[in-house]
Amino acid sequence: MSKPTIAVIGGTGAEGSGLALRWAAAGYPVIIGSRSAEKAEATVAELSALLPAAAPALQGMANPDAAAAAATIVLSVPYSAQQNTLVDIAEQCRGKVVISVVVPLQPPKVSTVWQPAGGSAAQEAQTQLQAVLGDDVQVVAAFQNISATHLKDLSWQPDCDVLVTGDAKAGKQTAIELAQAAGFFGIDAGPLANSSVVEGFTAILIGINIRHKVKGSGIQITGIPR
Ligand SMILES: NC(=O)c1ccc[n+]([C@@H]2O[C@H](COP(=O)([O-])OP(=O)(O)OC[C@H]3O[C@@H](n4cnc5c(N)ncnc54)[C@H](OP(=O)(O)O)[C@@H]3O)[C@@H](O)[C@H]2O)c1
Repeated sequence: MSKPTIAVIGGTGAEGSGLALRWAAAGYPVIIGSRSAEKAEATVAELSALLPAAAPALQGMANPDAAAAAATIVLSVPYSAQQNTLVDIAEQCRGKVVISVVVPLQPPKVSTVWQPAGGSAAQEAQTQLQAVLGDDVQVVAAFQNISATHLKDLSWQPDCDVLVTGDAKAGKQTAIELAQAAGFFGIDAGPLANSSVVEGFTAILIGINIRHKVKGSGIQITGIPR
């Protein structure tokens, strides 16, 4: 059976484009979304040059068109852009799984945990989308602790885990499968309310990167079979 199409909203950025490359390499049709279709096409060309075999799986579109054409939507924009971006794509999220990669950071203190008023970026996304769609959308948080640093190096063997939080089991299963497709071990980490801790841990990892002079620290959960 063919794999479901993924739209990466903000897929022109380091995190979204890196994940997109890995999903395309795993055989998923992937649409890069951007505020500019031309910018999305440029990212498709960049990724296709890195992995020519994945070129047929990649397309570039404006964010609402990308969201409309996909079964699963990955939100990978800065926290400051999340609200406006969701306004643009809300209707296109109806009946779909929306995976938030967004980390709320409060510059300049990006290595200090900061929680937004709605609890977490993902909870705020769920509240905003449910105001339009009711329960006809599944918001999941995942990949927050995965640094963009190594994503485009397909020879890199990831040793870090993806904690997946959400209130809908099916949506979480989708994210766990996409974690695996990208080369990571995905773990159900409970309800979407727990995403505040997962998002916050990224600020801690940024501080660890600075203090240890590394670029892509991550987390691994021990004590479970894999
Ligand atoms: N970088 C990492 O290592 C990393 C790791 C884990 C999680 N994250 C999180 O993942 C998300 C994406 O990270 P990133 O590093 O890829 O971010 P980014 O490069 O700063 O932004 C990603 C894309 O978002 C769009 N965007 C930027 N500013 C915008 C605005 N004001 N309004 C609307 N769209 C805007 C841009 O796409 P267009 O200009 O094409 O529209 C941009 O290419 C962030 O929330 C980040 O905290 C990042």
